[in-house]
Amino acid sequence: MMFTGKHVLLIITGGIAAYKMPQLVRLFIKQGAQVKVVITENAKNFVTVKTLATVSQDVVYDDHYISENVAELTHLDLPMWADFVVIAPATADIIAKLANGFADNLATTLVLACNKPVYIFPAMNDVMYAQHVTQRNLYSLNESGLTVFSPETGPLAEGYSGKGRLPEPATIIETVYAAFYRYSHPQVLQGKKFIVTAGGTREAIDPVRFIGNRSSGKMGYELARAASLLGANVTLITTQPNFPKGDLKVVTVTTAEQLQAAVEVRYAEVDAVVMAAAPADFRVATPADQKIKKVDGEDELKLTLIKNPDILASLGKKKKQQFLAGFAAETQDLEANAQKKLKHKHLNMIIANNVGGAQGGFDSDENAGKIIFKDGTVKTIAMTSKAEMALTIMTTISERL
Ligand SMILES: Cc1cc2nc3c(=O)[nH]c(=O)nc-3n(C[C@H](O)[C@H](O)[C@H](O)COP(=O)(O)O)c2cc1C
Repeated sequence: MMFTGKHVLLIITGGIAAYKMPQLVRLFIKQGAQVKVVITENAKNFVTVKTLATVSQDVVYDDHYISENVAELTHLDLPMWADFVVIAPATADIIAKLANGFADNLATTLVLACNKPVYIFPAMNDVMYAQHVTQRNLYSLNESGLTVFSPETGPLAEGYSGKGRLPEPATIIETVYAAFYRYSHPQVLQGKKFIVTAGGTREAIDPVRFIGNRSSGKMGYELARAASLLGANVTLITTQPNFPKGDLKVVTVTTAEQLQAAVEVRYAEVDAVVMAAAPADFRVATPADQKIKKVDGEDELKLTLIKNPDILASLGKKKKQQFLAGFAAETQDLEANAQKKLKHKHLNMIIANNVGGAQGGFDSDENAGKIIFKDGTVKTIAMTSKAEMALTIMTTISERL
C-alpha cells in the first residue's frame, strides 16, 4: 500500500471541487493512511462535515473546534501529528492568505506553524487562476518551500473548458505519493536518463485481428514509475498506455518494429534501458488489407510468419555507456535460459521470472524472480508486489550505474 502508517492532514477550502474530497479521504485510507480533515467555514457550503467525519473516522477540525476546545493547541498539534499536509481544493483566497503569511483561521494558522511538506492543489475558475496576482501568490508559495501542483485543463463548473480543474482523487493520490516518496527517499537515480519498455506487441493479421501475448505492461510500468520515484528522467515506451502518467514521458507503440524504432532513436543519449516489453518474435509476412473472410469449403487458413528483429540483441551490439537490462520470462530452466540470454545479447543484467506457475508473471499484480548480473552475481526476489519488485530492481541498477 502506498501510504501504510502515514498521517495525512487534508485541508479542504471553499471551492466547488470540495465535493470530491470524501472520495480522496477514502482512497488515502484504502492505501493505509490515517486521515484528519480540516475544513474552512466556506468549504462547508460544498461538502458536509458529517460525510467527512464518517469517511475519516474522526472529528472534522474547524474554527468552532478551536473555540470549543480552548485547552488544546490544535493549530500546533495537527501539523506535529501529520507526515504531510494536502490542501485540496486550494482556493485563490487561501493561496493569497498563505502567500502573505496570514494566520486568521485554523487552516492558515496550522500551515504557518507547519514544517512538514505541504502539497497544494489549486482549483478555480480559469480567469481567477490566470490572474497575475494568483500566479504571483503561487510563485511565492513555491519560493517558500511549499509544493504547488498545476490544475488540469478540462470541464469547469462554469460549463466550459479551461485551466483550473482539480485533478481526480486517484491522480491526486498518485501525485502526492510521488512527491512524498521523493522527499523521503534518497534520489539514487537523480540525473540519469532511462528508457523502459512495457507490454506485449500486437502484430496485425488484417485490419481487425492481431497476434498478441499476455503481457499486461504492468511490470514495465512499475519499473518506469520506480525509476522516476528514485529521481530518473524516464521515457516509457509501451503498448499499454492506460496507467497514470505522473512524470513519465510516454510513447505508445503497437508492433515490435515500432517498439524497436522508438527505442533506437533515443538510445544514444540514455544511461540505461530496461526492456520489460514482450515483443513478438514473429509477425505476419503480409497482413491483409481487408478483413479476412471465411470461405465456404475451406477449413484452413495459412499464415506465413517471419522473424521480427531481436531488439535486445541489436541494442547489445550497439552498446556504449548504456546499462542494458532485459527480462527472461520462462516456463522452464529459468536460470540457465536467463544466463544464456544475458551472454548472447551482451546485457549487463537480466531479470528471470517464471511465467508458467499459478502466481506471478503476466497479468498479475505480483511477481518474483532472480536478478542475474554479467559477473555471475544472483539476487533472488521473493514473491512481492510488482511495485516493490520494481523498486528493488531500480535500486540494484543504481548501485551499478
Ligand atoms: C458557488 C461558488 C463556487 C466557488 N468556487 C470556487 C473555486 O472553485 N475556487 C476558488 O478559489 N474559489 C471559489 N469560490 C470562492 C470562494 O468560496 C471564496 O473565495 C471563499 O472566500 C473561500 O474561502 P476559504 O478559502 O476560506 O475556503 C466559489 C464561490 C462560490 C459562491
